Amino acid sequence: MKYLSRMLYVSRSSIGLDDDAELQKILEVSRRKNPDLDITGILCAGGGHFIQILEGPQENLIRLYGIILADPRHYDSVLIGIAPIEKRIFRSWSMGYLVNSPNVMESNRQQLLEIWQGRTEARELVSMMKRFLEQLER
Ligand SMILES: Cc1cc2nc3c(=O)[nH]c(=O)nc-3n(C[C@H](O)[C@H](O)[C@H](O)COP(=O)(O)O)c2cc1C
Repeated sequence: MKYLSRMLYVSRSSIGLDDDAELQKILEVSRRKNPDLDITGILCAGGGHFIQILEGPQENLIRLYGIILADPRHYDSVLIGIAPIEKRIFRSWSMGYLVNSPNVMESNRQQLLEIWQGRTEARELVSMMKRFLEQLER
């Protein structure tokens, strides 16, 4: 398994809140395609929000996120994070599905965006790049 990673993004749904058929289509295609990419995960929906966690080889995750981003059934997506992992949480789910209440989804999106805006990882990345540049200057 090359560079096993987990990613999490949030987005806003552009399909009607009651459009279960469209949601089922997303789950169907995910469950068909994700096994070939060695990707597992979960999609949470509710109150016009999506929160998705995907696990698999990093390259496959990033390629898939590119495809998902271009999907007009949602917008305003923010990649909260992508990080290396040792083990999967969603080992046997090509795509699990969870419905949450609008309030829970709204507060989760807010909390996740605050984490993202905190830019903890960005600070780490900046100091990593500085160390790298210092090496080059020697
Ligand atoms: C919120 C959301 C989550 C999605 N998750 C996945 C996914 O995990 N795997 C997947 O293959 N497609 C997913 N899709 C669907 C893709 O955007 C795309 O429509 C699909 O992969 C294209 O399949 P096709 O090449 O068979 O047309 C998702 C779409 C949305 C809106």
